Amino acid sequence: MLHLLQPTDPTWVDAAAADLGALLSDHAHCELKAAQSALAIVGRFADDAPEMVEPLCDLAREETEHFRQVYAHLRSGSVARNEEDEAEPSLPGLGKPEPDAYVNALRKAARADGPTAPILLDRLIVSALIEARSCESFKLMAEHLPNPELQTFYRGLMESEARHFSLFRGLAEQRFGADARRRLEKLAEREAAIAEQLPLGPTVHG
Ligand SMILES: [Fe+2]
Ligand SMILES: [Fe+2]
Repeated sequence: MLHLLQPTDPTWVDAAAADLGALLSDHAHCELKAAQSALAIVGRFADDAPEMVEPLCDLAREETEHFRQVYAHLRSGSVARNEEDEAEPSLPGLGKPEPDAYVNALRKAARADGPTAPILLDRLIVSALIEARSCESFKLMAEHLPNPELQTFYRGLMESEARHFSLFRGLAEQRFGADARRRLEKLAEREAAIAEQLPLGPTVHG
């Protein structure tokens, strides 16, 4: 789906849902990082690519709103309600951000060729692939999480991630043309190898 060469292991969602509080905490941090990453591209490349300022500021606003929504779910009790054996379940907190092994490996894989591809092109293509992989995770969560409220929520987010994949791919193609398409093919191969190796656990990417 969405240019990914390796589907997400469908057994991931069971491993992830086993600790829903940890999964939503990781997801909330992913949304914050997505907003920060979009703004970091603006901060670094606004002079070279002014056409990206407005769509990426809009994206950062949307990712921040997603963070707010995930955080609200985390604190609302919709997570704690699934822990049947606790009489008075405690609400999970946000916790501190952890390094994202998938994102770090993908960024490293993109720079493995040295300075052959423009940094902006790689930032856009890596962002597109992260959105595509998140879209897969949210699709599985929409289909398999036990809570109907969360299923509906993740169906909506799945659609957002598909749109964000198209946004990043479109920005890359608008500026880099055929080079963007070739780079997406190449990095999608490396992304597939990374995704295949990820341990199964309560994180959005792995
Ligand atoms: Fe998001
Ligand atoms: Fe996104």
